[in-house]
Amino acid sequence: MILEVRNAKKFNEEFVVDADKSISHRCAIFSLLTKGENKIKNYLKAEDTLNSLEIAKALGAEVSDDNEVITIKAPNNIQEAADVLYCGNSGTTIRIYMGLLAGSSGFFVLTGDEYLRRRPMRRVADPLRSIGAMIDGRKEGELAPIAIRGNKLKSFDYTSKIASAQVKSAMILAALQAESVSYYSEPFLSRDHTERMLKGMGANLKSKIENGKCKIEINPLSKKLEPLNIEVPNDPSSAFFFAVAAAITKSTAIIKNVTLNPTRIESYKVLEKMGVEIEYILKENKYEPIGDIIVKGNKLKGVKVSKNIPWLIDELPALAMAMAVAEGESVVKNAKELRVKESDRIKSVVEGLKKVGIEAEELEDGYIIKGGSLKSAVIDSQGDHRIAMSFAILGMLEGVKILKAESINTSFPNFFKLFKKIADFGVIDEN
Ligand code: S3P
Repeated sequence: MILEVRNAKKFNEEFVVDADKSISHRCAIFSLLTKGENKIKNYLKAEDTLNSLEIAKALGAEVSDDNEVITIKAPNNIQEAADVLYCGNSGTTIRIYMGLLAGSSGFFVLTGDEYLRRRPMRRVADPLRSIGAMIDGRKEGELAPIAIRGNKLKSFDYTSKIASAQVKSAMILAALQAESVSYYSEPFLSRDHTERMLKGMGANLKSKIENGKCKIEINPLSKKLEPLNIEVPNDPSSAFFFAVAAAITKSTAIIKNVTLNPTRIESYKVLEKMGVEIEYILKENKYEPIGDIIVKGNKLKGVKVSKNIPWLIDELPALAMAMAVAEGESVVKNAKELRVKESDRIKSVVEGLKKVGIEAEELEDGYIIKGGSLKSAVIDSQGDHRIAMSFAILGMLEGVKILKAESINTSFPNFFKLFKKIADFGVIDEN
């Protein structure tokens, strides 16, 4: 699919974006550890999260959907699926399921699309193997397809070199099935939905944060978890595209009912540093703080981003678009993880920006962007949803054509409907 963005106007609009992707995945996966009926409202019906739900079904869950509430009833024990488990484009699906299935009885194969099959899996496979998991895959377990023979797992005290919520979540699920208490440490707190949700479901988990470092004590499950009763908040990462749209067109975006979890909204704080006015309105607190964000665009200035990276890693491509039209230079450092996302996002951002006439330079762990004036161009999104949406937003200023834009449906199917409120665009289906 080619997305052609022609132009846009200044706006003052409300955006009710799709449900949070990270929390939706976890609803599907954690349901498998419960007894009773899980009731989930506002589950994200995007390709990635629907794959997580299909896998839950393949493992024996009974799932029904009345279009308002998804009900998930887990089997007594996770069942062997009759076929390979397809994770599509989703790193979260494959990695968190690896942790769950490593300790479940049976044989399981997890795979995904051509992009997911290029992404690193040993960050999860290695720590799991060190506690007794039987995992294999191409390149010694680095690449999917990943095969798992469920096994008894030992308890552990594991210190991760990377702050990754996917690795952390996989290890926490393994720890729940291990023989006694386990400890997981990460160099910096990554998004903490897993800890919040599992605690809410009755798991015995204690987190301690000291000097930014995070250590979690996880006790094995003595009984099944309590079922979820949750309305998934909206996704601040999806909403951020409209925050950037407001920032670069000096408009106002009113973003409704997103999680205000600090590990998720750091990118909004960076926009504030760049000169944008932002207000956060807390409305409720269930598993997560939830509320509205009001974004008022202003003249933008360049910024240096080198701290709290795990809290804005997914938003860095969209932030780069604001950097491209800001006054002066912006620098992103300590963000090497960008290279192993749905595409090599350091390359995708820099190559795309050069195409639209902006001076940009790759660093090993980030980039330097000199704010400038834009020209229209054709951008290859590399099949990466966040690259496609970021450049679509930038295209509001001088126009753009985005190739492989169908990837947007992996995380944000309502993007096109909401984008219509503020931009003139067309979609060309190549099939
Ligand atoms: C996610 C964690 C992050 C993030 C991804 C979703 C999650 O990845 O980039 O989009 O839901 O746990 P890492 O944990 O690998 O950094």
